[in-house]
Amino acid sequence: MMKRHFLLLAAAFLLFPATGFSAPGNRKKDSHTVVTVPEVRAQVISVETDGVQWLFNVDKAGVLRCNHFGKKIAAPEQFLDFTGARTRNGIEKYGDAAMAYPTVGGRYSNEPALHVKYADGYHNTELYYTGHKVSAQDGVTTTTIFLKDYVTALEVALVYEAWQKENVIVSHSEITNGGKKPVELIEYASSFLPVLADKYLLTHFWGHWAYEMNVEHEVLGYDKKVIETRIGVSATKLNNPAFLLSLDTEEYSERHGEVIAGALAWSGNFKLCFDRTICRLNISAGINPFASSYKLAAGDSFITPDMIWTWSSNGAGQASRNLHAWARKGGVYGGDKINPTLLNSWEGAYFNFNAKTLTDMIDDAAGMGLEMFVLDDGWFGNGEYARDNDRAGLGDWELNTAKLPEGIDYIASYAHDKGLKFGIWIEPEMVTRKSNLTNAHPEWVVRSPGREIYTSRYQWLLDLSNPAVQDFVFGVFDRTMQLSDKIDYIKWDCNRFVNSFGSDWQKDQDRFFVEYVQGYYKVLRRIREKYPEVIIQCCSSGGSRVDYGQLAYHNEVWTSDNTDAVCRTRIQYGTSFIYPASIMGSHVSIVPNHQSGAVTPLKFRFDLACTGRLGMELQPKDLSEEERVLADRCIQSYKQYRDLVFTGNLYRLVAPEEDRYALMYVSQDKRRAVVYDFNLRYESRDIIRTLRLDGLDAGLRYKVRELNTDRPCWWGNEGCFTGDFLMNGGFNPRLYRTYASAVFYLEAE
Ligand code: GLA
Repeated sequence: MMKRHFLLLAAAFLLFPATGFSAPGNRKKDSHTVVTVPEVRAQVISVETDGVQWLFNVDKAGVLRCNHFGKKIAAPEQFLDFTGARTRNGIEKYGDAAMAYPTVGGRYSNEPALHVKYADGYHNTELYYTGHKVSAQDGVTTTTIFLKDYVTALEVALVYEAWQKENVIVSHSEITNGGKKPVELIEYASSFLPVLADKYLLTHFWGHWAYEMNVEHEVLGYDKKVIETRIGVSATKLNNPAFLLSLDTEEYSERHGEVIAGALAWSGNFKLCFDRTICRLNISAGINPFASSYKLAAGDSFITPDMIWTWSSNGAGQASRNLHAWARKGGVYGGDKINPTLLNSWEGAYFNFNAKTLTDMIDDAAGMGLEMFVLDDGWFGNGEYARDNDRAGLGDWELNTAKLPEGIDYIASYAHDKGLKFGIWIEPEMVTRKSNLTNAHPEWVVRSPGREIYTSRYQWLLDLSNPAVQDFVFGVFDRTMQLSDKIDYIKWDCNRFVNSFGSDWQKDQDRFFVEYVQGYYKVLRRIREKYPEVIIQCCSSGGSRVDYGQLAYHNEVWTSDNTDAVCRTRIQYGTSFIYPASIMGSHVSIVPNHQSGAVTPLKFRFDLACTGRLGMELQPKDLSEEERVLADRCIQSYKQYRDLVFTGNLYRLVAPEEDRYALMYVSQDKRRAVVYDFNLRYESRDIIRTLRLDGLDAGLRYKVRELNTDRPCWWGNEGCFTGDFLMNGGFNPRLYRTYASAVFYLEAE
């Protein structure tokens, strides 16, 4: 076993060796010593699930490398001496070997996972392997690999949780300052993955308010691609912290080829970097270091958020299904449960309601077979700060006694008496300029000395990095729950992002962005300890906080404020790449749609809403008798098959970028399925598109029945067909009118 010797030479010595020159200024005596890396055993460490393998090798110099992520390989020890690069020269000159967690320092000069500045002002860190341990529990094997800088006392533990059946590996890093002086973490990624292929197609998700999760496919060239956000909260408004990467292709494929997918569990500023070097593609994922260098005191550790990885050899579809399976088992709070259908008051009543408005809505919801009523914004604030519009009241979470003198318990009890659950809206991180809270605690507002505090929707952000604000926010939730013992659901909203950031409480402003999110999670943990059963929806002007960080505490999200069913095909399609259908709040609203003005048939709106967690968000009195009958019918049929939406496997059949959108969910045993088909544009009634179904058992015979209509659109309706036939070209519903839609239920004989 070779030992590696490192000579640390003073810059002065390098520049002015003993040649007669003398250095300007103070020339110190050379005090450098040779530090030796302790001897380690070269070895391969395999982190593996049933179908995915992440291979690390400790090389002869003790450096931890990563040379494989993907297909399981027999006899992985053969990777021991593999360099994992497309050029040797790159490695020798630039130290660009496939590092498992590269640091600023040594020969490495590409995008690092870790950049540390030490108390003496130096920036070099070179980690070597000191050991690893493996433990297993409940189908998850955890491997922790320990690394240490060979000069300073900085230590890093890389943690990899391999979810065996789900084929997902969740990883994060833990950075410990074992020295006696503070250090500064300038970059501190959760996870790093070097990938070796000839071509890379990146799929990522960008958006805006009411325009979330647009799918972008992009071939990566020889440069750096960064996906990030710097807006602090509502962090997924512009970009989602997740991606898919198709290997050795420039063409996106749902069903074929190798795909790596990753999602960061962090509800704040994030950074995903794809650094294509001559040797490979290096992916680093973690908290965005923007304005967030983190000072780590002697003895302290920093635990980075989880990065969730998977790999598929069957295209993007399988990568999504792996993530969904993991989400249901552990990634989403209550991810294995079925959330109730509901009527939400927002688009039906906005701020204008009294008890009668609400009890009438409850009667109508019960009449249509819905299972919950949710009272949205507008129930709190009094006097000049009454929440009668969005200009006042946030922060003052007392019941608005003028609007609802009967109290929340009266409404909740009314719902329960009708057999419905009850939910209520809060936005506890916010305060409107006009509120008692602003007057009482101006120091709780996110602000910077002497500067304008910009409003957004007339509101300011509370500084959740401050423990006093954390207590307040927990208290808002807690007191709301005390308004009635019949509160089953909370919609937690968050309608702005960070401007002019600053915290009156923080001594070190660099901590604000990180500690805001940590504070948010602390509050959510406290809430879950006290209220494990309550269903919590995460809303942030719709889908501006959709990530696996908050989903560890929430049951679902409000996917978008855009309830136009045609727009929703695209938004929900994009969301489905990373997140399961069970979390997607998906509501039928009135036409003309309040956001887009578009008019779509009620059936189209229902069929689309039924691809997620079905709800309605309208004034039921605005529906005609005929529409009510259709609503009843769609709700009833959804309740019969919705376990497929919540627990089945998703197959995306046609992307809504085309003139059609089609998808299906198949039960785990492949005996039942539901297929949705939406026509988005009229072309010709002569053109009939054939759908190739997916995920069925080729040998089983399925009875196919169209739901929600008396005028079936497929010639084979009510017939029995093999999975083989349905998956290979025999299924061609006649759907040609603009916004015609169909739902088919399949059950094996
Ligand atoms: C945000 C939410 C909506 C609704 C309103 C209430 O816009 O996304 O669903 O709750 O706030 O003000």
